[in-house]
Order: sequence, then C-alpha cells, then structure tokens
Amino acid sequence: MPRITVAGSDASFECTAGDTILRAALREGIGMPYSCNVGSCGNCRFELVEGAVDHARADAPAWSERDLKRNRWLGCQAIPQGDCTVKFRSTPDALAPARPALRQAQLVSVEDVTRDIREFRFAVEGPDAFEPGQYALISAPQIASARAYSMANLPGDGLWHFQIKRVPGGALTGYLFDTLAPGGTVTLDGPYGTAYLRPDSPRDLILMAGGSGLSPMVSIARGAAATGLTAHRKVHFLYGCRSRADLFDPSLVTSIDPAISLTAVLSEPDAGWDGATGFLHDHADATFGAALAEAEIYFAGPAAMSGAIQRMAHDSGVPMTQLHFDEFY
Ligand SMILES: Cc1cc2nc3c(=O)[nH]c(=O)nc-3n(C[C@H](O)[C@H](O)[C@H](O)COP(=O)(O)OP(=O)(O)OC[C@H]3O[C@@H](n4cnc5c(N)ncnc54)[C@H](O)[C@@H]3O)c2cc1C
Ligand code: FES
Repeated sequence: MPRITVAGSDASFECTAGDTILRAALREGIGMPYSCNVGSCGNCRFELVEGAVDHARADAPAWSERDLKRNRWLGCQAIPQGDCTVKFRSTPDALAPARPALRQAQLVSVEDVTRDIREFRFAVEGPDAFEPGQYALISAPQIASARAYSMANLPGDGLWHFQIKRVPGGALTGYLFDTLAPGGTVTLDGPYGTAYLRPDSPRDLILMAGGSGLSPMVSIARGAAATGLTAHRKVHFLYGCRSRADLFDPSLVTSIDPAISLTAVLSEPDAGWDGATGFLHDHADATFGAALAEAEIYFAGPAAMSGAIQRMAHDSGVPMTQLHFDEFY
C-alpha cells in the first residue's frame, strides 16, 4: 500500500489501492485543504516532491498544463502509483468531527420534492455520523467516477437522505432517476465538506439555497432546530429558483420549526406571483443590508449563484469566517 509523506512535517499516511491522496489524508485525520472533491475548485492542489501519481479525471477543470509543468496535482484526483512525498499546507479547518469512509448503501425510498428534485433515502452500512451541511460521494458501477451530493437530514437512524436535482443528460442523476430502484445499492464515500453548521456562534443565520443547493440548507435548518438554536437566534431560509413550478411545498422548511422564516425568490416570476423576485444575492442584500456582516451565512447552489453571493458578501463587509460554502459544481 503506498505511503504518502507530507514534506516539511512529520505526517505520513497510507493510501489504499484506488484511493486519492486527499481522501486518504482525510481518512487519517490529516487536514488537507479541499472543497468540491471532484476536480473543480483547485483548493486541494499540492506539489509532488517525489514519486508518481495518476489523475482519476484527466479533464479536471481546475487542473492545467501549467500545473503539470510545475508538478502540481489535485489531491482529490491524484492516485499514487507508489510511495510519494507531497507538499501542501495542512489545516485543522479541513477536518470535520467524523472521518470519511467508504460504505455500501441501499436505496430505501424515493419522493418528489419539486418537478425536478427528488429525495433519495439510503440505508447506510456502519457508523452514520455527519454534520448538517456535509456531503457524500455517490458512485455506481456504470459511471466513470463519483459525484458529490449533500445530505438533507440529520444522522442517527442509519439513513442518509439526498435531495437531488435531475440534470438533463447527466450520467449519475440519469442513473438515480431512471434506473436505480428501491433495494438497489450504490457506494457512498463520506462525510466530506467543511461548510457545516457551527451551532456555537452567537449570530443569526442566513441560509441561501439555489436549485440543487436545497439539500444542505435543509439539513442545516434541521440542525439549527435540533440544537435549540432557533429559540434564541433568527434563522432565515431563502430559496432561489426561476418560476413557481420550481417551488417545493413550504412545509419542507416550515415544519422543521415555525420560527424559521422562509422566503422564495423567483428570477422569472409568473403572472400573479406576489412574492420576492430577482436574484437571491440581490434580495439578501436589499433585505438584510448592514445586518449581513453580523450574520453567519451558509449557501449552496450553482456556480453563478455562488460567485454572486460571495461578491455581494465581500462588498457588504462580511468576514470570510462567517461565510460557509463548498464549491458546488
Ligand atoms: C460539494 C458538492 C455538493 C453537491 N450537492 C448536490 C446536491 O445536494 N444535490 C444535487 O442535485 N447536486 C449536488 N451537487 C452536484 C452534483 O454533484 C452533480 O454535479 C450533478 O448532479 C450532475 O451530475 P450528473 O452525473 O448527473 O451530470 P454530468 O453532466 O454527467 O456531470 C456533471 C458534473 O459532474 C462532474 N464530472 C463530470 N465528469 C466527471 C468525472 N469523470 N469525474 C468526476 N466528476 C465528473 C463535473 O463537475 C460535471 O459538471 C453537488 C456538487 C458538489 C461539488
Ligand atoms: S479540485 Fe479537489 S477539492 Fe476541489
């Protein structure tokens, strides 16, 4: 089994066959920085000092010819060919309470949430701990590599719920929506992600979800209610989508705790819609103004929405330590 040594430290860890350097590091409690886990964000970039690696995804968007020339690779894609020495700056922020592990999971039930989002509930083998807002990698034998999906529920009953948006022509969503039936199994790897609920902060919470970003925000809202946080802090749940046809039944959020305020913001409102309109980040800016800088802000959704929220938060003076998100593409 390849042994990975972290240059400039006394840390080293083993990497089982087929595992990536990032995932093996996190399994051993070594805080390699990361976010998306699928080659898109570049946060897990490291320098290969000695040894050789293969990249699981040769076309990873965050990896370039320039990286190759400088012997830099993505931890979430790099599979060692043998012992390696690598260089990266580890951080305890990359470590969540539960270490990620591979496990089999059986689909128990499926339920529609919106016209193109379904909740898939899986019974997981072994320990089921995760933090509200974290995600798992789902892989199926027919599909080249895993995709990330955030849990919508809270742990404790051996089930992980995922609210997943169908992507037209998408490989894994096509498999989940059209082929996998209750009783069928997938491989789950997790939990991953650092944008999870920090219940100890004294600040109000603003949760922003766009389309496929619904699942982790529902989990965080559930976590906030379960830890009693909604009794002394305001929790605002904002959901952005195009039209009324994209909305979910509001009881999905309001039944968690009536103290949570829910606002849907439509970017292409139908005639007769008298609720909020526009883009999610503009609505949050207009509604909360200076109070944004006093809140803990959690968000998830498509890359364009995520970028717009980050810029808006930066312009509003929100410290980075109060912004919680995983790159979601
Ligand atoms: C941290 C995170 C959490 C997410 N949580 C959710 C969620 O809760 N609900 C939800 O609906 N969606 C979520 N997504 C999006 C999801 O992971 C998929 O991108 C989406 O479902 C489309 O997958 P697909 O296979 O159907 O589509 P495809 O078009 O086949 O693939 C879409 C995306 O998968 C990635 N990809 C493509 N090829 C490869 C490859 N060979 N190896 C690895 N990745 C590849 C690329 O980013 C691509 O854009 C999340 C994404 C991330 C990064
Ligand atoms: S590119 Fe590896 S974690 Fe995002």
